[in-house]
This record gives sequence, C-alpha cells and structure tokens, in this order.
Amino acid sequence: MMETIGVVGLGTMGLGIALVYAQAGHSVLGFDAMELARLSAPDRLNATLQPRVDKGQMSEAARAVVLARIRITPDLAALSPAALIVEAIVERLDAKQDLFRGLQSVAPSAVLATNTSSIPVGSIAAGLAASDRLIGLHFFNPAPVMKLVELVGHPGSDADALDLARRLTEAAGKTVVACPDRPGFIVNRVARPFYGEALALVEEGRSPGEIDAAMLAAGYRLGPFSLIDLVGADINLAATCGLSDAMAGHPRYHVFQALADQVASGNLGRKSGRGFVFPDALPVAPPDAAAIALRIETTLINEAAWLLSEGGVTEEGINTAMRLGLNFPRGPFEMLALHGRAKVIGVLSDLQTRAPAALKRRYDPAPALRAP
Ligand SMILES: NC(=O)c1ccc[n+]([C@@H]2O[C@H](COP(=O)([O-])OP(=O)(O)OC[C@H]3O[C@@H](n4cnc5c(N)ncnc54)[C@H](O)[C@@H]3O)[C@@H](O)[C@H]2O)c1
Repeated sequence: MMETIGVVGLGTMGLGIALVYAQAGHSVLGFDAMELARLSAPDRLNATLQPRVDKGQMSEAARAVVLARIRITPDLAALSPAALIVEAIVERLDAKQDLFRGLQSVAPSAVLATNTSSIPVGSIAAGLAASDRLIGLHFFNPAPVMKLVELVGHPGSDADALDLARRLTEAAGKTVVACPDRPGFIVNRVARPFYGEALALVEEGRSPGEIDAAMLAAGYRLGPFSLIDLVGADINLAATCGLSDAMAGHPRYHVFQALADQVASGNLGRKSGRGFVFPDALPVAPPDAAAIALRIETTLINEAAWLLSEGGVTEEGINTAMRLGLNFPRGPFEMLALHGRAKVIGVLSDLQTRAPAALKRRYDPAPALRAP
C-alpha cells in the first residue's frame, strides 16, 4: 500500500506538488483555507495536464486515473492518514506556524514539510512540539516539470523524517539535493551573481543583449536578462532584496540600481510586454564574450564556494542543483575545473581592484577557493 500524501495550499505550487505524488501512484489529500481555491482545484488540475493530453503524451484515461487519486477536503483533520504533508501556503511565518500547530495534532506521526522559499525552516519549526519531524522540501515551479527538490534539515530535525521525504520524493521522479537551512538554500542563493554581475556590467555601460549573447555563446540556454524577463524583474528584485536582507546587506548580494530602475520603469519582462531584452532579438556575441562569461562564472563559482565553506552541502549537490534548478550547462565546480583555480582567483582580484569601494568585498575569494 503506497503512503498517502497531504498537500496544504492549493495554489501554483500546491497543485503542482499534488500532481507530482499522484502521478507516482499516491493518494493525495488536498486542503486550502479558501473555498474558491478548493472548488476550482479540480478544473485547474485538469487544465495543467491538458497540454500533455493534447500532445498525446498522456491519454484521457490516464489523466482521469491521476486526478481520481487527488481528493480535496474542506477539513484539515481529514489529512490524518498522510505519511507526508507538504505545506505550500502563503509565505508568512505566522501563517505557516499556525498551520503546523494544527497539523502536528491532526497527523501525530506524519513528516511535515514546508515548501518555503525564503523563511528559515528552523524558525518555522521553533516552538512546535513536532519540530523534529518538520523539514523543508523546496520544489521549483512548475513542480511537475522541474526535476530538482531541495531537502532542508535544521539542527532539530530527525534523520528518519528527512529519509522518508527523500525516499518518497525520489520515487516520484525527482532529484533530491540536501542543503543547509541557509538563506536561499542552494539555487536561489548561488544564482544571485548570475544576475548581479550581469547588472554590474550594465552599470559599466554594456547592453543586456550583448551580455545575454555572450552567455549563450558560453553554452547557456538563456542569459541573465532573458531569464529576468521570463520570471519578471519585480520577482527578481524581491528575491535579491530578500537575500540581501538575510545576508545583512553583504555586497555579494548587492541590489544593483539598474534592476531597481527597471522595475520602476514598469518594463518587467514578458508579462508587461517589454523587459531588459524582450521582445527584441539578441545581437551577435561581442568580441569579448568569453571574458564576460568568465567574469559571471567566476562570481558564480565564488558564491558556490562560500556556500560550501558554510557546510551541509557537497560540491556535487551544488552542481546538480544549479544544472537542474536553472538549466545551467555546468555546475559551479565544473566551471571551476574548466577555468582553473588560478584564473578564477586572478579574475576576482582584478574585479576587486576595479570595484567601487562599497563593492570591493563582493569579490573576496571564499576560503574553499583559496586553499590549494
Ligand atoms: N511560486 C513559486 O515559484 C514558488 C516556488 C517555490 C516555492 N514557493 C513557495 O510555495 C508557497 C506557495 O507559493 P504559491 O506560489 O503556490 O502561492 P499561491 O498564492 O499560488 O497559493 C497559496 C495558496 O495557499 C492558500 N492559503 C493561504 N493561507 C493558507 C492557510 N493558512 N491555510 C491553508 N491554505 C492557505 C491560498 O488560498 C492559496 O490557494 C510559498 O511558501 C512560496 O514561497 C513558491
């Protein structure tokens, strides 16, 4: 008998997560505090699978089987049979803590997982009787498509709870990477310089289009500005500000004025019809494309090395997370192997020399890079 999975919060992420486990054969119990969300969930689930049915990747009958495994309930207590309950509600500490206070008695032995992107898992667990069985399971959007899930423990979390969440999620086809309970986990943190260093180049007079073209020439499917245009400059700014605050304003997470100005201009990307480069075609890569890519990759490598120095994660884990979470052609430590430690340290040193005073510490090499 396969374990029952609970999902709380039937928005973008919750519905996607429900589909992940239902497609793997689990019964899923879904709850949302809003009646409208509960009532519309079946239609939204159906619509999510429609493109696959249209393309012939899934039969109507197979879709019906998957959807029949998902039961929506107006009663949180109905989640009691679940072995794993994933929370994907509003990103607010008080709301998440209230919910988990209810869930810990509803399901006295279930593993409780939060899909938070930005709240420390340890602070959600703090004060809960069930803090040991509360962990982070960070899915990426769209959850049924994105292979990566970041698994987040905290100092009080139980190894068995982490194991169960990993086992069920891997069996549902995901690649699960363990990471520390640090701001941004792996992907949202190590990605910062991909955008930040590109924005630094723009502030030095380069165009977003030529920077994206340089990254494409280096093997990336999307450059930093096309990626910002896809997700929205406002979303990127919020994530950048969140990391900057969580990291006490360290210049490695500097909020570049070029990004704030872009948001203020209203040209947020695809959703507003114009962004940094959207809808224009990219220019040809500039003559110094390799140097642009090396500079951006150097800062990605350094951020990954700082995260590695803090513990709780492996080089392989960071490589995998960046390849799967952002579609990078190679992980940061593969970039390091490609360029060589000496070159990377040299680029950081040059950047530090040329940086304005407020940004010099942005280029301090991580201890893991300095060690021979
Ligand atoms: N959207 C993303 O790209 C993304 C990616 C990874 C993680 N996350 C995280 O996932 C979570 C959900 O994000 P989303 O984008 O799916 O949000 P959403 O707004 O699409 O959905 C949230 C749902 O939760 C419901 N809800 C709110 N408070 C509730 C409560 N107290 N009890 C039960 N239901 C409640 C809402 O009615 C809504 O249906 C957040 O923590 C977010 O940070 C989002």
